[in-house]
Amino acid sequence: MGKIEFLDQQGSFRVYQPEDYSGLYFPLAGDGGLKSCITPTLGGDSKRDQNHFLMEPVSIENLHNNKNTRNFWCRIKNRGYWSACGSSAEAEFLRFTGEQEKSVLEAGFMWQKLTRTSAVHGLKAEITSFVTVDGAMEVMMTELTNITEEPLEMTPIAVMPVYGRSADNIRDHRHVTSLLHRICTTDYGVEVTPAMSFDERGHQKNHTTYFVYGSTGEGEAPAAFYPTVGEFIGEGGSYLIPEAVRTEKPGAVAGSKAEGKEAVGALKFAEILLKPHETVCYLTLGGMTDERSQIEPLTASLRQRSQVKEAYDEVKRYWTKKVNITFKTGNPDADNYLKWITFQPILRRIYGCSFLPYHDYGKGGRGWRDLWQDCLALLLMDPSAVRQMIIDNYGGVRVDGTNATIIGNAQGEFIADRNHITRVWMDHAFWPFVTTKFYIDQTGDLEILFEKVPYFKDLQSKRGTDHDTGWDETYGKCQRTEGGVVYFGSVLEHLLLQNLCAFYDVGAHNEMRLHGADWNDALDMAWENGESVAFTSAYAGNLKEIAHCIRLLEQETSCKRFEIAEEMGMLFAGGRELYENVEKKRGILDAYLEKCAHNLSGQTMIVKAEQICSNLEEKADWLMEHIRMQEWIAEDEARGWFNGYYDDHKNPVEGCKDGKVRMMLTSQVFAIMSGTATPDQIRKICQSADKYLYDEKAGGYRLNTDFGEEKMDLGRMFGFAYGEKENGAVFSHMAVMYANALYRRGFAREGNKALQALLNAAMNFDNSRMYPGLPEYYDLSGRGMYAYLTGAASWYLLTMVTEVFGVKGVMGDLVIAPAFMPEQFDAQGNAEVKLIFAGKKFDIRFSNPEKCECKKEWIKSVLCDEKQLEPEAGAAYAVRIKKEWIKQLDAEKEHVIKILFGR
Ligand code: G1P
Repeated sequence: MGKIEFLDQQGSFRVYQPEDYSGLYFPLAGDGGLKSCITPTLGGDSKRDQNHFLMEPVSIENLHNNKNTRNFWCRIKNRGYWSACGSSAEAEFLRFTGEQEKSVLEAGFMWQKLTRTSAVHGLKAEITSFVTVDGAMEVMMTELTNITEEPLEMTPIAVMPVYGRSADNIRDHRHVTSLLHRICTTDYGVEVTPAMSFDERGHQKNHTTYFVYGSTGEGEAPAAFYPTVGEFIGEGGSYLIPEAVRTEKPGAVAGSKAEGKEAVGALKFAEILLKPHETVCYLTLGGMTDERSQIEPLTASLRQRSQVKEAYDEVKRYWTKKVNITFKTGNPDADNYLKWITFQPILRRIYGCSFLPYHDYGKGGRGWRDLWQDCLALLLMDPSAVRQMIIDNYGGVRVDGTNATIIGNAQGEFIADRNHITRVWMDHAFWPFVTTKFYIDQTGDLEILFEKVPYFKDLQSKRGTDHDTGWDETYGKCQRTEGGVVYFGSVLEHLLLQNLCAFYDVGAHNEMRLHGADWNDALDMAWENGESVAFTSAYAGNLKEIAHCIRLLEQETSCKRFEIAEEMGMLFAGGRELYENVEKKRGILDAYLEKCAHNLSGQTMIVKAEQICSNLEEKADWLMEHIRMQEWIAEDEARGWFNGYYDDHKNPVEGCKDGKVRMMLTSQVFAIMSGTATPDQIRKICQSADKYLYDEKAGGYRLNTDFGEEKMDLGRMFGFAYGEKENGAVFSHMAVMYANALYRRGFAREGNKALQALLNAAMNFDNSRMYPGLPEYYDLSGRGMYAYLTGAASWYLLTMVTEVFGVKGVMGDLVIAPAFMPEQFDAQGNAEVKLIFAGKKFDIRFSNPEKCECKKEWIKSVLCDEKQLEPEAGAAYAVRIKKEWIKQLDAEKEHVIKILFGR
């Protein structure tokens, strides 16, 4: 009991008595439209965006005191009244008297089924909840069965409370905004159309109607309605024991109206006589629309049980198909967890980082770095749209190398900062190239680098240090030239600019300035003097890889020269003397920023590919050497790590003094990933991480050791209790990137340890207390926190596919270079992954009966669709299949690649 039991290989699972665990919630959403969350007692909420909540917005702390949940009540003659979802005073009471009702929850992608049985009331209920694929409605199908041997006379009442306004009003004018409500009842339901909306956009005419409709499984309308909270719960009443349930209140008929009240879609159905073992079905629909006339046709399409069943099956089919990567390792439960991890990036695309109970911040949308990293998973699952997405996103880069941080709803829509100098996150310019490079590897499409894109323009200038007072709304949001035309630069120019500006933007120790923060949002209090060595490493890695990309570009397209904005020329200055001189570097950056503070000249210059490459490589080499020399902390012969930060007092943050160890994982991850750390240093880092950061029960590698100090000169993270979130939790995103970096550098065993620890902690339900998936972090005790919406999932998936299974693109060719540990094969020595590559379906099967190391030397044969493939001479990977060859494969068929290992 209390464990997750999987029902199939598509992630569907079961958990008994789910209400016994705190903080459980489940996402239900359409592909667009409604985004809901639902708890084991049908709490949670449902919304379209920040300004349109159908149900009252909930945060995690509301889950155990949120009483105005969805509900389904039965008033049964001689047997009292029963909440079929266990959201009642009685159910709460029974949980503590040892007479708890039996409940089981089953769930899969975007659907949940709750089954509860009450011997006292003589009923079993199955409540299936989902949101239609188009996101138009949340559906609740309640099926009640008489489990006694006698007929039951009962009155059913379905409930969906209607909040009907912006999340802003949860405290800001909660009552006043209820005065705007115009409520009416129709034949099948309750509609709420606020007269106006009061929110961040000001007072506006409202066009949205919120509705709760219902019918019996045969399509019969409710008999009466309780459309206001007052009528439903009664004076002094409660949602846990509402008056309309306790007493036989007549309720309102269709066509009635109410104004200025809190609303609820409480639908009373006709009294029925349920025979022994007979089942009856009721349907409840909730939604919102800006076209009121659409409510009737919309709801009529789901008025019968058969229609709802069909919509439910469609939901299952649709989302199962979307999650189109399947792993088979030796552990079927782990494979099912991996299914959920694969689903998580899809959830973050839908919910952003704002709309689930732990994620009660932001107003929807995603941040810049999340946007780019989520593309990594998309590139594996649904690459078709990614090319344009990448191009459009580059339109958010400013000519000073920073970028827009407020991202609009439409792709490529960025919102100008009109008021203040907003924060510059110094890591932001790092991520676009990471994604672009992966895109190029997977597709071989180097041409993307030539695509012309505008630059973003707003009031901010000079990397967040100044305002361009010459700018206003009439200028527009695209960078212009002196001639007044919008300037377009290549994708290559954009990414060069991002990485080069970062190169010069250094602090006192010649490491890149931290500005508002880096990846760790909570390192946000060292604006003046903070430096992030962690991301200096990261950018050094980028500079090297960009050079590599340009060399490929030169080879493939024989393009030897590139056009760039003339102003940029100065950023290619070189030489050790310059690199070592902080003042000179800043001088170059300042001169550049001054030149393009308002307009660009519009003049361009031609630079040779070779010149760019050697310049970038020289810069990268210097950076890495500088970090190795200056930042390495050698504890002893066996252990050591990199200092990753300087605080606002210009002091190094990490170290080992008087037996007190200060070590941060992020600093190590980027030193390893970028190639800054030498193999010997990596070994020492691993030893240190194992000693100071590893905690198996809590998911593996913590983000940092306990500094035992509130560092007001570095960031709010030190205000968090140790072991929580960015202060020393096992933060999945960074722990996975640690694994990824280790794999990339050939430390597969160490990488596997990090991946496995994260997964094991999640799978230990008694401890993690979360549905399948990876949490944003594990708290000190190992409880999974902030379920579903984390960039860790994209990176986990990426690492599993491209490193563990080793299936990845190299200039569009498919290469396979697995790095399995023996335990990652099943008993017969098999492992398998099914995925899409270059639009073709592949089933890649590894067979290793002797469980030998997955070295190239041990490959006995490689077959694709039973045809023998010859391994490429001299290459490090087992298999390379040319893109031309993949092109001619049948797109409908699944192509089986078999790789046999043996001694
Ligand atoms: C969250 C944010 C991410 C940030 C990280 C650390 O991580 O979304 O942008 O870098 O916190 O502050 P997530 O778990 O969502 O990837």
